[in-house]
Amino acid sequence: MINREETKMKSIDVRSDTVTHPTKRMYEAMFNAQIGDDVYYEDDTVNKLEKMAAELVGMEAALFVPTGTMGNQILVMAHCQRGQEIIIGIDHHVAEDEVAGCAVLAGVQTRTLPTKDGYMDLQDIENSIRKDIYDWIPETGLICLENSMQGRALSLEYMAKVRELGNKYKIPVHLDGARMFNACTALKCSPREMGQYVDSLNFCLSKGLCAPIGSMICGSKKLIQKARRLRKLLGGGMRQVGIIAAAGIIAIQEMIPQLEDDHRIARILAEELSLIPEVDVKFEALSTNMVFWQFRDQKMRNLVNFQQCLAKKNIKINLPWEPKYWFRFVIHHYIREEQVQQIVDAIKSYIAQSEDRIQASL
Ligand SMILES: Cc1ncc(COP(=O)(O)O)c(C=O)c1O
Repeated sequence: MINREETKMKSIDVRSDTVTHPTKRMYEAMFNAQIGDDVYYEDDTVNKLEKMAAELVGMEAALFVPTGTMGNQILVMAHCQRGQEIIIGIDHHVAEDEVAGCAVLAGVQTRTLPTKDGYMDLQDIENSIRKDIYDWIPETGLICLENSMQGRALSLEYMAKVRELGNKYKIPVHLDGARMFNACTALKCSPREMGQYVDSLNFCLSKGLCAPIGSMICGSKKLIQKARRLRKLLGGGMRQVGIIAAAGIIAIQEMIPQLEDDHRIARILAEELSLIPEVDVKFEALSTNMVFWQFRDQKMRNLVNFQQCLAKKNIKINLPWEPKYWFRFVIHHYIREEQVQQIVDAIKSYIAQSEDRIQASL
């Protein structure tokens, strides 16, 4: 168990781990940061962070970028030529939530595959690989993975098999590892062990690791040099950005080991929710910091009403993204164990009110 900091965050916010504020140690590090112009490679703090990131995942080089989206898109651009296609899960962030950046920026199309429990089928991947044997066939430029994938930690065995496919057909593999440390924590493996199966990866400092801004993209020296030019092209060449990188260093040094405790609290939440008869918890999707659950009874699924009811109790939630009624509650550094009970009590009180309403309407 870790000592969770008090925060200026005003509510119990389980919408995402992106809502986390910097820790006290991050504020101190930001205040004291050695800075310089990073476009001239002169920001010592950024240089230190990039070195640390590359070593952490066992790659030659790393680059600090403002967001995970920019990091992923830069790497798609760096790996692919215009007119190619990338193989990717239909519900992966790069395909679904990056404003069609692959098409707009890299000029590639996404060849999206269905996923089951977060995994693309290996045979589907192999069947989808295309070479330019005919004039009209787009060539596969990249295979994209995501881990953790909507809260699930995908196995290293699977990643190794995708790597083998990449090697067999000479196609690079990219990992959107926005939350790769959550996955590594769940799999009890090191980031290096995961990093060995891909040619490039992106990890976020600003999610469960609490830094205010920033992601790291990692790969070979040659790839990252190309990525650096592409970052400039997109307007992401930053100047005295050591102020922010300083928080990223603390994120790597101090916050990765704390993720295990987020996972512990997520499990407590899942178990407490499962004791409510009206609630169904998706335990099979629980391996990191995300708890998926739904109301069993259709009549309770007045979701906007539910969201407002929790908001009155100072609990912020997102509505389900798709009409499947599964809520996603995300645990992070600023959710304390005792707040789990407040969340559970608020849900129980909504259920009691709904049952009264349903009873009255009969
Ligand atoms: C899996 C995944 N990849 C990439 C991103 C993009 O990160 P950012 O919000 O920093 O652009 C997110 C954001 O939530 C994400 O969940």
